[in-house]
Amino acid sequence: MKLKREEYAQRRASFMAQMEPNSIAVLPAALPKIRNRDADYAYRQDSDFYYLSGFAEPESVVVLIPGREEGEYILFCRDRDPAKEVWDGYRAGPEGACSEFGVDDAFTIDKLDDILSGLMDGRERLYFTLGHNESFDHRIMSGIKTLRAKARTGAAPPSEIVDCDHLLHEMRLFKSPSEMAVMKRAAEISALAHVRAMEKCRPGMMEYQLEAEFFHDFMRQGSRHPAYTTIVGGGENGCILHYVENDDVLKDGDLVLIDAGCELDHYAADITRTFPVNGRFSPEQKAIYQLVLDAQLAALSKVTLSNHWNEPHEAVIEVVINGLHELGILSGDLSKLIEADAHAPFYMHRAGHWLGMDVHDVGNYKIDGQWRSFEPGMVLTIEPGIYIAKDNMDVDEKWRGIGIRIEDDILVTKDGYEVLTAQAPKTIEEIESLMAKAAASH
Ligand code: GLY
Ligand code: MN
Ligand code: MN
Repeated sequence: MKLKREEYAQRRASFMAQMEPNSIAVLPAALPKIRNRDADYAYRQDSDFYYLSGFAEPESVVVLIPGREEGEYILFCRDRDPAKEVWDGYRAGPEGACSEFGVDDAFTIDKLDDILSGLMDGRERLYFTLGHNESFDHRIMSGIKTLRAKARTGAAPPSEIVDCDHLLHEMRLFKSPSEMAVMKRAAEISALAHVRAMEKCRPGMMEYQLEAEFFHDFMRQGSRHPAYTTIVGGGENGCILHYVENDDVLKDGDLVLIDAGCELDHYAADITRTFPVNGRFSPEQKAIYQLVLDAQLAALSKVTLSNHWNEPHEAVIEVVINGLHELGILSGDLSKLIEADAHAPFYMHRAGHWLGMDVHDVGNYKIDGQWRSFEPGMVLTIEPGIYIAKDNMDVDEKWRGIGIRIEDDILVTKDGYEVLTAQAPKTIEEIESLMAKAAASH
């Protein structure tokens, strides 16, 4: 499932329409990352770069120059090279860049330093985001120095450097109908993989063996990669927010917290489900689980156009403090508990984040210092959790080591919201009945 070429052309046109007159934008591709010695991590294109180009190759640079007669969209990329392509695979080359990707004017990447300073010459503003790629920052600076050195011949470097992020990330925050379709499919694939994990889970399995079910099911359904490192935390490992070792045994009587989502055409899904390894919640697990679910539903009900970004988070805090108080885990005056952030030892993150090409996606959360309101086309996660550390001596022993998070992906619509990940069961009854059915059929 891929976006069409025209969508990238529309994005470039919209971005260029917002650039100041007589300006140039430069965006480099992501750098490959070495895992060890000469083995690389799987290459993932930079999201801003891909958003404007749909071009997934490394060693490439997008240049946009609104109004340039020879073509507004310029791409530098690797040349075709039959000998190298035998080892590393197909490259579009400058010709393919024009015929397959709608580039107006393409050059090989080895010409970048010679040509880029000429392209910058006489443009008043350079749209370039400093600080992401140091070696590329240096190349831009040396292009500017080259132009300064030629000032007597009439050369003029841009007098202003403007960050691309503001324009581009505001665009990325609002999803088009075709982006929504890709994100819905990524969410669906991921939700069904969570169902499979619930069906396959058995006491005695290793956490990474449940992780394997996600790799298998993501790829089987058409996604090449997870969108982020999968978390499979059994028992007290569920209390470690970024637990990724996934190398413990899943024990009878414990819960397992799984945070896993796939990537589809560079768009992420991000789902967390927590369920009993043996298929049945204990009374304590049930009590905390229901509290997290109540907090999640309360947060969801705050996703409406009249509300602002922080309202779901505020709703979670209120439900969590009230619930922990009712269970006797927190004691004392409720309003004092709220004032003292009494939830913090148990719920230490926020209720969610924007979701898109990056799992923690771009887009401001505040405008002029105020939380921004929800608007149609935004996609976010709602993911409250309660984590009771095993060494928290302030709570009764029976609660210790329980870690629960429930995370869904939400599209803001004009009437409220749509849960994109609804196919992953989340009530206690749904989970227990799904797991019981799966156990019976084995
Ligand atoms: N999977 C990362 C997160 O939930 O924010
Ligand atoms: Mn998340
Ligand atoms: Mn997550």
